[in-house]
Amino acid sequence: MPRRTLDEITAEILAHKGAGCGFEPCETCSNMVPGEGSPNAEIMFIGEAPGKNEDLQGRPFVGQAGKLLDRLIESIGMTREDVFIANVLKARPPGNRDPLPGEAEHNWPWLEQQIEAIDPKLIVLLGRHAMNRFLPKRRISVDHGQPRLLRGQVYLPVYHPAAALYTKSLEQTLFEDFAQIPELLERIEAAQREGMVRA
Ligand code: URA
Repeated sequence: MPRRTLDEITAEILAHKGAGCGFEPCETCSNMVPGEGSPNAEIMFIGEAPGKNEDLQGRPFVGQAGKLLDRLIESIGMTREDVFIANVLKARPPGNRDPLPGEAEHNWPWLEQQIEAIDPKLIVLLGRHAMNRFLPKRRISVDHGQPRLLRGQVYLPVYHPAAALYTKSLEQTLFEDFAQIPELLERIEAAQREGMVRA
């Protein structure tokens, strides 16, 4: 399939609400949450699924975890407008239950197309669920803060910001893991110039 624009992908996701696909989140959500940010983002953040606030507003990471994510993004000298924020699932599972494997599969082509359209230098995986979709069998307690190169794409797994709302010490860990991002971006750019990773 030819590369689609982010606007086309967004429009398709928005039109999908209640479209009769048979998957509970798409049928029961208040709003689809396609993701938002710059189409030219160097960094893409990927969480698991919209929560209650995101479902009501149709925007990703707008609740308490989102406020922490905003602070983390600001700590590396950027704003939400500079990056792109998405989720594996584009609709809230009822009652905030974990997404079912079939639901993640159903949503996967959208995420793949978003990544292709944005072509980020770095994908930051927020939490173990998002991490395991890309880096199976890794453990967030071991792998957080460790960049991984997979098929020419660099991924950085970090704890989910919501985890730091429950376990305060993880907030410091998150800020430390984010602190390496500016230098990591420089290293990726240098590697791209040398053809080591996908430019
Ligand atoms: N948690 C997520 O994983 N995604 C959101 O958009 C909000 C909370």
